[in-house]
Amino acid sequence: MYMPDQTFVVVQNLTKTYPAATVPVLQKVSFEVHQGEICSIIGRSGAGKSTLLRCLNALESFDSGSIQIGAAHLDQASEKERRAILKEIGTVFQTFNLLSRRTVLENILLPAEWSGIPKDKAIKKAVFLSEKVGLGDKMSAYPSSLSGGQRQRIAIARALITDTKLLLCDEFTSALDPETSLEILSLLRQLNRELGVTVVLVTHDMSVVREVSDHVIVMEKGEIVEKGKVEEILLQPRHEVTHTLVRGLFIKQLPNDILKRLVPGSFPGHVLIQLVFSGSSARQPVIANLIRQYDVPVTILAGSLDHLKETSLGVLTISIPNELAKVAQTLDHFKVHQVAAEILGYLPESIC
Ligand SMILES: Nc1ncnc2c1ncn2[C@@H]1O[C@H](COP(=O)(O)OP(=O)(O)O)[C@@H](O)[C@H]1O
Ligand SMILES: [Mg+2]
Repeated sequence: MYMPDQTFVVVQNLTKTYPAATVPVLQKVSFEVHQGEICSIIGRSGAGKSTLLRCLNALESFDSGSIQIGAAHLDQASEKERRAILKEIGTVFQTFNLLSRRTVLENILLPAEWSGIPKDKAIKKAVFLSEKVGLGDKMSAYPSSLSGGQRQRIAIARALITDTKLLLCDEFTSALDPETSLEILSLLRQLNRELGVTVVLVTHDMSVVREVSDHVIVMEKGEIVEKGKVEEILLQPRHEVTHTLVRGLFIKQLPNDILKRLVPGSFPGHVLIQLVFSGSSARQPVIANLIRQYDVPVTILAGSLDHLKETSLGVLTISIPNELAKVAQTLDHFKVHQVAAEILGYLPESIC
């Protein structure tokens, strides 16, 4: 269960430079993850996301800073304490890393064997988990006879066998098709809720973030540049990197003739603005008031319903004349009414 007042992972000023590298891969990285939440770390390729995740499960060392997981400090722990902490951490990767000569159940059992959990207890747990991940009827099957989605389900069950409290996932849906990806994300959410496991996942895919995250951390060049609740990050991105990553997530295809004429720089003519209405803003006549108060001639180009987790969103693309004062008034109006507004581009001549 997501417990907003209890932190489970506390990372402070984590800094690391790879041997022979000229710049640090992690620079004073600090963040907290609450007990029972799903926290996503996003960023462009090379930002340091995987390195950070590998520091959390001690596959990687770091130069300075601290990592606290539960009550234990990873950097101050004795070897015995360290093993106990690491037993409570499971990791799932993009490649499933299953043993082909072992059955589904035997694969799930592997970490239990390594950490010396009594066999009968481990088998009971493995059966329970294989049912939980939807492979109850495949326990004796071999990975080669299963689909990518089913293999990732085995990997998830395997990561949870040692009474795991923290699940780390690195691009774990990247090898799957979009539909299977959604099924795996929904499974992750279900396991997170039912078992109370805290999840930190790394991805470059915004649709993953939007499906499951409670909080989002944005990384760029080894630093955290933005962090917040998923709604804030996706609907009101502040940093340029976040903007770039999030752009397109809610964009519904505009007619081709408009897309072809759209230019990025400000241009006399029309400006196209994408609006995302959510919560109370969806129930107010924000557009009607804009027309009435500021006399802005609004053309509606496209509209649809979308979702962010369980919340419905209205997504609307409008065009208005590109006149400096009117555009400023319009953007201000949307800001006041908490409608996320983003300029998509400019149309050099009238489209009406
Ligand atoms: N084992 C390593 N040794 C040296 N450099 C590495 C190693 N792993 C990653 N790097 C470098 O560190 C930077 C961050 O990599 P990584 O953590 O994999 O980023 P991300 O997961 O965000 O793509 C990259 O420039 C990468 O080339
Ligand atoms: Mg990576």
